[in-house]
Amino acid sequence: GAPVTVDISALQEGQRLIVEWRGQPIWIVKRSKAIIEALPTLDDQLRDPKSENPDQQPGYIAEANPELRSLKPDISVLVGLCTHLGCSPEMVAEIRPEPFDPNWKGGYFCPCHKSKFDMAGRVYQGVPAPTNLLVPPHHFTDDSTIVVG
Ligand code: FES
Repeated sequence: GAPVTVDISALQEGQRLIVEWRGQPIWIVKRSKAIIEALPTLDDQLRDPKSENPDQQPGYIAEANPELRSLKPDISVLVGLCTHLGCSPEMVAEIRPEPFDPNWKGGYFCPCHKSKFDMAGRVYQGVPAPTNLLVPPHHFTDDSTIVVG
């Protein structure tokens, strides 16, 4: 499929923009400073905190911000399909106690079989999803324009 160009100039903190690329939902999410700072504290609860499975993201994105899995700290781009059986996870992008557990640091929750991912798409331990959410190939052409593909 052809690359998709996305204008993110109106994207607010905590919001998710969903576009389609190669028939898949692509999420573009603007993360808050609190979320960004929480991500490294989650490593010991995650199955693959460093995304060592190389299929999960292009290498240039892994190198930019290894724990954030993004080119820029605040902007996360993910394929919005659960790596278990492909359901679409829900986003709870705030650090808050309800309706999830009191330790919830923001992330994605798959309603089908309860897989949990953090705000970098990294999968928690003890859930059915085997790998982190995928990061699609993408790049910025300027501060508010992303090309996916
Ligand atoms: Fe997401 Fe099964 S499809 S947990």
